[in-house]
Amino acid sequence: MTKLRSVTLNDKAQPICELPVLSGTLGPDVVDVQALYTQTGMFTFDPGFTSTASCRSAITYIDGEAGILLYRGYPIEQLAEQSTFLEVCYLLLHGELPNSDEMEHFDHNITMHTMVHDQLSAFFKGFRRDAHPMAIMVGVVGALSSFYHDALDIRSKEDREMCAIRLIAKVPTIVAMCHKYSIGLPFIYPQNKLRYVQNFMRMMHSTPCDEYEPNPVLVRALDRILILHADHEQNASTSTVRLAGSSGANPFACVTAGIACLWGAAHGGANEAVLYMLEEIGDVSNISKYINKAKDKDDPFRLMGFGHRVYKNHDPRAKLMRETCHEVLTELGLHEDKLFKLALELERIALEDEYFIEKKLYPNVDFYSGIVLHALGIPSKMFTAVFAMGRTVGWISHWDEMISDPEQKIGRPRQLYTGASRRDLPPEHIKSV
Ligand code: CMC
Repeated sequence: MTKLRSVTLNDKAQPICELPVLSGTLGPDVVDVQALYTQTGMFTFDPGFTSTASCRSAITYIDGEAGILLYRGYPIEQLAEQSTFLEVCYLLLHGELPNSDEMEHFDHNITMHTMVHDQLSAFFKGFRRDAHPMAIMVGVVGALSSFYHDALDIRSKEDREMCAIRLIAKVPTIVAMCHKYSIGLPFIYPQNKLRYVQNFMRMMHSTPCDEYEPNPVLVRALDRILILHADHEQNASTSTVRLAGSSGANPFACVTAGIACLWGAAHGGANEAVLYMLEEIGDVSNISKYINKAKDKDDPFRLMGFGHRVYKNHDPRAKLMRETCHEVLTELGLHEDKLFKLALELERIALEDEYFIEKKLYPNVDFYSGIVLHALGIPSKMFTAVFAMGRTVGWISHWDEMISDPEQKIGRPRQLYTGASRRDLPPEHIKSV
């Protein structure tokens, strides 16, 4: 990071402060406002952090205008086509792709930690069977912090690495347990002879009475979903993990904060919302009614799976997911299925509609991942939990980067106070002693 130049802030044409401008490897320069308050007595105001770089990071780069997404410098298209999710995990955590020995060691380590402590299973019984899987995820992943707390030194690189391994290994087991619990079937233990995604699919779909043989096309589709969701720089849930972790809190608890944030429909909940929306629309003949609702300013309805805070031309993940979507529909012979036909028609109409073109509202990754997950036989309620499974590596990589940063300090935003000025309690509230 280099200091390029500075900008001068003027008030009524009088210079009041000079602020350094910093430059990263890629992307816009940033004005370093750290000295602003001491020099001017003013804060910056940026609700939703639309213009604020909250940290330095060397993990992921996004150019929303150009539709570029790089993990550690590698384009998402190359990783999605040539890598596996576990290779991407290694890359995000360590900064470089693994050689074959490193990969074998990493893969083995993950496999050896897929089982959860037996007592963790007891937590599930406290939840209603119809509890939302994300509510269970918040409870159960949060509970991991109680199993790994006293012996965990967040200043130790080895401890942080072990924590990352445990999370990447155990979250799929917990996600599958959430599913089995909600349908009243026994938990299925992981099997060490299986690869990461096969193992997850088996834990989801087999029963003690019936083995499940994962179809390689579907395995590859889920692997791609995980790769595409693995990281997305300072999105809401990752920023939440960083903020929670900035106080030195237990990393399992911090990742749980990320899971809570991810749940919302404007973030990870969108893939689930896409399916509910398609079910609500119901038939191709109703699409124009819903397109009009989405355009109506007085109607809160939005087309779920369309639009993105950062990608204003196209979401590169959506293009890859669209490809996968067609592969899966072809493999399963579902192109003529009513729901999938409806989704593809909605996509076509929205892409041609003036309102969506003008506002640059393109289908995002969750539009297609929702459709693919549905085709994979994963219930809609579980979609965001699968997103969390992919994003766990991103959360823990950012947490690790933050804790290793020598300049790291507790996150503490300021505010523009708009409440009452100082006032005294009214006489009737003053108690006589
Ligand atoms: N349907 C209809 N209108 C929309 C939509 C939509 N999906 N998204 C944005 N708009 C309109 C919005 O009404 C506003 O119109 P106007 O300028 O007339 O007020 C304009 O487009 C800009 O919207 P915004 O809310 O200011 O844009 P944003 O960048 O703050 O919001 C978003 C981004 C993703 C929250 C929003 O597009 C949205 O709610 N999309 C649907 C939910 C969704 O698919 N979320 C998943 C995001 S991808 C997964 C992830 O990376 O987490």
